[in-house]
Amino acid sequence: MTDTLPTPGAAAAGAGDAPLLEVRSVGKTFGSVISLQDVSTVVRAGQVTCVLGDNGAGKSTFIKILSGVHQPDSGSLAMNGQQVTFGSPRQALDAGIATVFQDLAMIPLMAIWRNFFLGSEPTTGWGPFRRFDSATAKEVTRRELGAMGIDIRDPDQPVGTLSGGERQSVAIARAVYHGAKVLILDEPTSALGVKQAGVVLRYIAQARDRGLGVVFITHNPHHAFPVGDRFLLLKRGRSLGDFAKGEVTRDEITSMMAGGAELDELAHELERPGD
Ligand SMILES: Nc1ncnc2c1ncn2[C@@H]1O[C@H](COP(=O)(O)OP(=O)(O)OP(=O)(O)O)[C@@H](O)[C@H]1O
Ligand SMILES: [Mg+2]
Repeated sequence: MTDTLPTPGAAAAGAGDAPLLEVRSVGKTFGSVISLQDVSTVVRAGQVTCVLGDNGAGKSTFIKILSGVHQPDSGSLAMNGQQVTFGSPRQALDAGIATVFQDLAMIPLMAIWRNFFLGSEPTTGWGPFRRFDSATAKEVTRRELGAMGIDIRDPDQPVGTLSGGERQSVAIARAVYHGAKVLILDEPTSALGVKQAGVVLRYIAQARDRGLGVVFITHNPHHAFPVGDRFLLLKRGRSLGDFAKGEVTRDEITSMMAGGAELDELAHELERPGD
C-alpha cells in the first residue's frame, strides 16, 4: 500500500496553485480529552506558517498529525492537492515532511558531521569494501552549514559543545540538505535568549528562501510575527483563526492568545491589598 491516496478530481482542480500542504479540519481525541477539533491551515512553498498557542493548546498534537506520529480522528491532509495519509513518521518523511522536535534527536557527544548524517551516511566502495565515507561527510557538513551562514570551526567538534541556537540551526540545515519540502519546528526558540532566538529566526527565513514550506510552532508572537506569512492560533484544541499576514496585527495575536480578560483578572488577583 502506498502512503498517497489520490482524491478523484483533486489534481484536475488546478493542482498548480494547490498549497504544498493543506490541513483540512483535523481533529484528535485522547480518551475523553479533545486535543484538537476542526483545525485547518495551509503551508505554501517559500512561506512560513506559524502555529501559536499557550500550553496545552494542542500545538504538539497538531504537528504530530502532520509528521505521522498521530493519525487524525477526523479531517484530512493534502499535499499539492492530493489527499495523503501518513501511517508512520517514516511515511511523512518519505513525502518530504521533516520535523525538528524540541529534543532535536541529536547525540551530544557525537561529532557535528556524524549528527548531520545520522541514519543516512554516505558510503564509498561497494560490496564487502563498502565503508562510511567520513571525508565526504565532513566536507558536506561544512559546506551546507556554511551555505546557511553557520561557520563551524571543526566538524569533529561534539554537537554538545554548540550553543542551543547553533544546534537548532544544524538540525534545520540537516533537514534542508536531506531534501525536506516541509520543515516543521516545534518551539525552536522557546529556550533561547533574544540573540540566539534571532539566529534561529534567520535560519527559518533561509529555509523559507530556499523554497521550503516552514511550520513554526511558538508561543511567542514576537518571534512569529517577523517571519510568519500565516498565523494559526490555537486555544484549548480549537482554532481561534487562521490569518494571512496583513489580516491580523501582532497586538491582536498577543491579546487573543493571552486572553485579555484573563490577564486583567490575574492582575487584579495579584494586587496587594491596599494597592
Ligand atoms: N498522548 C496523549 N494522551 C492523552 N492526552 C494527550 C496526549 N497528547 C496530548 N494530550 C492532551 O492534549 C492537550 C493538548 O496537548 P499538546 O501537547 O498538543 O499541547 P501544546 O500546545 O503542545 O502544549 P505545550 O505548549 O505545553 O507544549 C493537552 O490537554 C494534553 O494533555
Ligand atoms: Mg507542545
